[in-house]
Amino acid sequence: MNDKQAVAMAAVQLVEADMIVGLGTGSTANYFIEALAARQQQGLRITTVASSHISMIKAQAMGLTVLSISQCPDVDLYVDGADEISPDHSLLKGRGYDLVMEKLLAKAAKQFVVVGDHSKWVPALGTHFPIPIEVMPFAWQAVKKSLQAIGGEGDLRPNVAKDGLCMTSHGSLVLDMRFPQITDHRALNALLNNTPGVVEHGIFTGLVTQVLIADQGVVTAHA
Ligand code: A5P
Repeated sequence: MNDKQAVAMAAVQLVEADMIVGLGTGSTANYFIEALAARQQQGLRITTVASSHISMIKAQAMGLTVLSISQCPDVDLYVDGADEISPDHSLLKGRGYDLVMEKLLAKAAKQFVVVGDHSKWVPALGTHFPIPIEVMPFAWQAVKKSLQAIGGEGDLRPNVAKDGLCMTSHGSLVLDMRFPQITDHRALNALLNNTPGVVEHGIFTGLVTQVLIADQGVVTAHA
């Protein structure tokens, strides 16, 4: 069993009968979906809501009931991975680019449990990845200009084949931006929240209940 599987197995133990469970996106979240489906097969009754089309399709294929967030605003437990985790448990998310649903679930959930392996710890957000910023398609030039004015560097994210642009499930474009002059991610969070044309962005701060990290098979909880 690898570390991503180990942490997913630990997270699934937090699921109780009749919970509404938020499903994340990514390889670690996929292991959690598989572990949850296995618990359902053993008799656990649960309902889920997915953070992306890809997770919804995987969950449905495994026999889980997936509702729309409009049908279940009261999410009990949301389990998702992250791209980076800072010492204060702020997150960088969005390499899978469904930021709107991910942040809605993180905010709506009574418990938001982040799962990952040891590589996710960083001293500061933006260490390995730029900040994903989801923008209205007609506004991307204006948003880019606003972000450049505060020292932002970057451009629109290309699609996987690199022959077009990445587009989110909700029809937005994504700017991947670095901010070398802004070292405080809470300040950057506030600046991005205050930029017109930004639909959502990848800094998640003050939302996490618990971080579960696996390192060489040993899972540690950080509250
Ligand atoms: C999805 O948009 C991201 O926020 C994911 O949570 C992230 O990419 C984690 O993926 P892995 O579990 O594959 O590392």
